Amino acid sequence: MTRPPWPPIARTRTSPVTSRWDAPFPLGAAVAFVEGLAGRDPGAEGWFQYAVERRDDGTLVGDVGVNRHDAGRQAEIGFTLAPAWQGRGYGTEAVRRIVTHLLVTDGLHRVHASLDARNARSARLLERCGFRREGLELCSCWWKGEWTDELRYAVLASEWSRSPEPA
Ligand SMILES: CC(C)(COP(=O)(O)OP(=O)(O)OC[C@H]1O[C@@H](n2cnc3c(N)ncnc32)[C@H](O)[C@@H]1OP(=O)(O)O)[C@@H](O)C(=O)NCCC(=O)NCCS
Repeated sequence: MTRPPWPPIARTRTSPVTSRWDAPFPLGAAVAFVEGLAGRDPGAEGWFQYAVERRDDGTLVGDVGVNRHDAGRQAEIGFTLAPAWQGRGYGTEAVRRIVTHLLVTDGLHRVHASLDARNARSARLLERCGFRREGLELCSCWWKGEWTDELRYAVLASEWSRSPEPA
């Protein structure tokens, strides 16, 4: 990556389109966030944020967060795309690649994600990738001044190896 990543990260996280589900993210927070990742081992337990860049020009279009836990056997993921780069399949491609890396290359047992039940685009993305809907938890999350319903998705390594190749 040639350009500093924090201005686009701050813009993406603060946009009215993404901030309903992602906390507003001022520039200072983005700088601290990126600096905090420097030197971290992506294979260690805890959150690691992968940048999603366009292969042809290196433009940062979003990020995928991975939280390895359960002694490295499982991981939770979260993802954000800049509004200008949504609706083109970049999120789906990024999530498929990272999940393949986790379940096939690194041999994890299970990858899962939780989201606000109103977040239909995220649910569609996960289902396109082959995630299974595991449940709906009613009013289980206090978020921005209200109780929200949480959708749970997951995929097992045994399921991933049977899922169709990405289009
Ligand atoms: C969640 C989020 C990443 C989804 O973005 P997205 O643009 O819908 O996802 P993708 O990049 O995979 O694009 C898929 C869309 O592009 C379309 N598309 C166009 N070309 C495509 C291609 N070559 N391959 C796949 N999809 C393509 C798909 O039809 C789909 O649109 P649809 O859902 O209306 O059918 C985005 O809405 C976001 O950043 N939201 C805010 C943060 C957030 O809520 N994160 C989730 C918390 S876990």
